[in-house]
Amino acid sequence: MAKVKSKWICQQCGYESAGYLGKCPECSAWGSFTEEVQYNTKPIQTSAVNEFINTEKPLLLKDIKFDEEIRVSTNIPEFDRILGGGFVQGSLVLIAGDPGIGKSTILLQTCGELCKKNKKVLYVSAEESANQIKLRAERLNIKADTLYIYPQTLAENIKSRIEELNPDFVVIDSIQAIYSQNFQSSAGSISQIRECTNLLMQIAKTKNITIAVIGHVTKEGNIAGPKVLEHMVDTVIYFEGDKYKSYRILRSMKNRFGNTSEVGIFEMQTTGLKCISNPNELFLNERSQGTIPGTAIIVTNEGTRPLLVEIQALVGTTPYPAPRRVTNGVDTSRLLQILAVLEKRVGLNLSKQDVYVNVMGGIEVSEPSADLGIALAVATCARDVVVDSQTVIIGEIGLSGEIHPVNNIEKRLNEAAASGFKKAIIPYANNVTANFDSIEIVRVKRLIDAISACVAPCGRKA
Ligand code: TYD
Ligand code: MG
Repeated sequence: MAKVKSKWICQQCGYESAGYLGKCPECSAWGSFTEEVQYNTKPIQTSAVNEFINTEKPLLLKDIKFDEEIRVSTNIPEFDRILGGGFVQGSLVLIAGDPGIGKSTILLQTCGELCKKNKKVLYVSAEESANQIKLRAERLNIKADTLYIYPQTLAENIKSRIEELNPDFVVIDSIQAIYSQNFQSSAGSISQIRECTNLLMQIAKTKNITIAVIGHVTKEGNIAGPKVLEHMVDTVIYFEGDKYKSYRILRSMKNRFGNTSEVGIFEMQTTGLKCISNPNELFLNERSQGTIPGTAIIVTNEGTRPLLVEIQALVGTTPYPAPRRVTNGVDTSRLLQILAVLEKRVGLNLSKQDVYVNVMGGIEVSEPSADLGIALAVATCARDVVVDSQTVIIGEIGLSGEIHPVNNIEKRLNEAAASGFKKAIIPYANNVTANFDSIEIVRVKRLIDAISACVAPCGRKA
């Protein structure tokens, strides 16, 4: 095949250049450029993918016929929850996560469930042999008469087989392992990922076939073949959680057909991923029963569901010239801001102390309502006092130490009351109209008030 075009592409952000660059002008990555050569065969143009949305002229809103979207339930309640009720027919869904977290497992289980509804399913395996898939299917006890396994890495072959077979649902395992013959670069490079995703998008939209694509994440936690992939697909779902523990969290980051930030919680058992319908039991059962300074229970609102999670903090004199701030499950810059407020507004000086903050359960908490819980965990550890174990903490902290209101307060309080908590520290500005008998509500205006409202001396030195 005749070489037609050669360009250098940053593998971090997709920036293109005519020649090699040591540092990417777009994302500042060093040594990230590789040469990618395109061959004579016509690559798929993004515009071709968009043909299905192109019309001759503008339409009047009132004249547009509404096609009701067809959703197919996966029969896996926690998976349906994050998808917004099931897969929308003709959508392209990306499932991303660390290797070994359970991506192939959840999709093979989904294939099994869809086959029970007599759907024709094609599982394209670009990483594992047919035997390996068979073995996993045996382990998951999948008995499916309409499930085809197709070990293949060439995108053009995959396209022809999909067209031939015309299945209802297709799994591509994984996008980094398939390649198009239009590009010389290896599978997993930006050009290949872009080309293959375009090809799949075109099939999904023109043939109305649902396609689920597996994507690996890099060490930094991004989907390898970065943001290009996220922009192109309809739905992006991330696997979170500690793969050394048994529970797994699926979170929707983008969903053109449903809520984002919704989470689904699973446990990895010997026979596959099982839904956990009451996650609070799971997150709270490891909790350190209120005798240890430096723990606080928060109620974070993930999608449409409030979750009770324990925050742990450890504060100690640093042996290093610069104190360390280490977080697991919360954003480090958020912690730095909370520490600055604690120092300035509460007088808690931590400039010579290391601070470690950990969210139990392997969940990522990005919501600002966790601020107050984090601040109290740090403050109680530093002062060697405890937050009462029957208390939940909800509130966002402003720079002047004021507590900002949070959304869905009543839903959060209901969840806390249902889990047996007796007291809730909430922002003053959150006016609760519903009647909560079993839980005492304390509304606080400032961080310092929250500290005095909920701490009790622990009666021992740490
Ligand atoms: P897998 O779905 O292969 O991960 P990924 O596709 O994300 O790389 O799952 C890998 C892990 O899950 C592996 O360590 C084995 C474990 N596992 C179970 O514990 N139970 C099971 O039923 C299955 C299928 C896998
Ligand atoms: Mg896999």
